[in-house]
Amino acid sequence: MHILLTGGAGFIGSNFVRLVLRDRPEYRITNLDSLTYSGNLENLTEFENDDRYAFVKGDVRDPEVLGKVMPSVDAVVHMAAESHVDRSIMDSGPFVDTNTRGTQVMLDVWRRTHGSDKRFVYVSTDEVYGSLPLENPEIKFTETTPLDPSSPYSASKTGGDLLVNAYHHTFGMDLVTTRCSNNFGPFQFPEKVIPLFVTNLMDGEQVPLYGDGKNVRDWLHVDDHCEAVLTVLERGESGEVYNIGGNNERSNLELTHAILEIMGKGDEMIRYVEDRLGHDRRYAIDASKIKNELGWSPSRSAWPGALEETVKWYVDNRQWWERVKSGAYQDYYEKQYGQRA
Ligand code: NAD
Ligand code: TYD
Repeated sequence: MHILLTGGAGFIGSNFVRLVLRDRPEYRITNLDSLTYSGNLENLTEFENDDRYAFVKGDVRDPEVLGKVMPSVDAVVHMAAESHVDRSIMDSGPFVDTNTRGTQVMLDVWRRTHGSDKRFVYVSTDEVYGSLPLENPEIKFTETTPLDPSSPYSASKTGGDLLVNAYHHTFGMDLVTTRCSNNFGPFQFPEKVIPLFVTNLMDGEQVPLYGDGKNVRDWLHVDDHCEAVLTVLERGESGEVYNIGGNNERSNLELTHAILEIMGKGDEMIRYVEDRLGHDRRYAIDASKIKNELGWSPSRSAWPGALEETVKWYVDNRQWWERVKSGAYQDYYEKQYGQRA
């Protein structure tokens, strides 16, 4: 199978490339990525000379480039997105443009190229369901929970979800959607909470904890997410949605204490800061459908071992995140490709 992956230079995308090329020797991947601030080809240097892997610098909103790459592939895994909630609060324009309109362009060109035959997996998020209260810990998102996004990021991802649903219904296209909880692991852009906190602590800086720190997220290792996406690509039912989660809910305060403990730091390193606007209180995923119907369950997310391993990755890879934080990545790209990304 030859997969067109969008957003493969980002956190989850680059881990997906690694997993697929390792576990499916007969597969090929073409990675289409426009290399926004979070796309980083240094995440994939080990594949630069692998003939099962190809990189195309291109935008999911550009029908011309899609028209060139789509005919030669067998399936799409569409991950490219603007992905950070805080940025979407500052400026939602690029989010609607890439996450909603970009998905529409992807679907249109895929249909024009292959009709309704070939599979397209849309990688969405549990954030499309909105926020759960802390008071009823037994309630979790299922695939039939109404979509009720509450940040500009999640609203723009929901636009993609609704289009995928509509294109399956209207044109009979072979489309499947995944909705995953918060990921952690190597190569995550250090604006997200885990790499931000770990790298701050490594530099002796405090960690900015939003509000009262009681907001809850369900944490899943990125390899488990990638394995689930691959499972859905290979065996998911057309037109279905699959929740993906770790059954691993932690408050931000618990997460912060776990990181502090792993890194041998004390509570004085926590700086309580003003809360995020509209901060979703709790996400919790019921992932029984993918488990019962497709046999997937997480194997890499066990806590705190998987968190310790992730912290160690950032400790051991200071050069990677320092370059990302400082912009030295641009120098690498210019040397490699003759222009700045
Ligand atoms: P990321 O920000 O690390 O990577 C996004 C990638 O998309 C980057 O390489 C970027 O250059 C590329 N991109 C952005 N706009 C583009 C465009 N217009 N055209 C082509 N490429 C473009 O994000 P991530 O954390 O790896 O998330 C990947 C996907 O998974 C997203 O769709 C996100 O909504 C979803 N998701 C993420 C999480 C999480 O915890 N990170 C959880 C559930 C779902
Ligand atoms: P984040 O990693 O941005 O993911 P998401 O908003 O998509 O869940 O944030 C995870 C949680 O951590 C979220 O509840 C917000 C909180 N947070 C902080 O307390 N401080 C920070 O500096 C950041 C970036 C996040």
